[in-house]
Amino acid sequence: MTRLTAKIRARKAVAVALAAASAIAVASGCAQGDIDVDEANREGAILFNERCSGCHTFDRANSYGSKPEGQLAGGELTNGPNFNVRRVNREDALYAIRNGGFSGAIMPANIVMGEEAEKVAEFLDQYSGEESGGTDVQAGGEQTP
Ligand code: HEC
Repeated sequence: MTRLTAKIRARKAVAVALAAASAIAVASGCAQGDIDVDEANREGAILFNERCSGCHTFDRANSYGSKPEGQLAGGELTNGPNFNVRRVNREDALYAIRNGGFSGAIMPANIVMGEEAEKVAEFLDQYSGEESGGTDVQAGGEQTP
């Protein structure tokens, strides 16, 4: 065997090993860190982690983007409501996704669309507000105009 084919073989082996490792990570659900939801909502949670975690905190999606706990006003504009405490139903979540939050001023609209938006909304409906169960705007550390 020439040195070249030996090198190619070695590379292939590494590629196969990597592919196997990532398949295991996906199968065990730890690709996105500590996402703790039932199977039906896993995709929604992963989408939330990927697209929404920059501005929203939500333990269920391993996301820590909101302003620090207890800080209610005067924070960064990217500090969206904390969904551990802020409860949103499916309708409201879809509204916020399509219109960019409720004010339309800060959160970008249509970060997820179609079926993906439905999945994220369903996930929020199932799991948001676990720490309070309320829809009080201030509960999520949100700034009111
Ligand atoms: C660039 C930052 C940013 C990103 C990214 C972002 N949001 Fe927001 N979001 C905000 C801010 C700020 C608010 C509060 C102000 C408003 O409603 O306009 C908000 C409000 C919301 C609300 C309304 C909650 C309430 O108080 O009733 C929902 C629901 C929501 N976001 C869901 C999402 C989802 C789902 C994603 C990902 C697809 C997402 N957001 C991505 C910044 C963001």
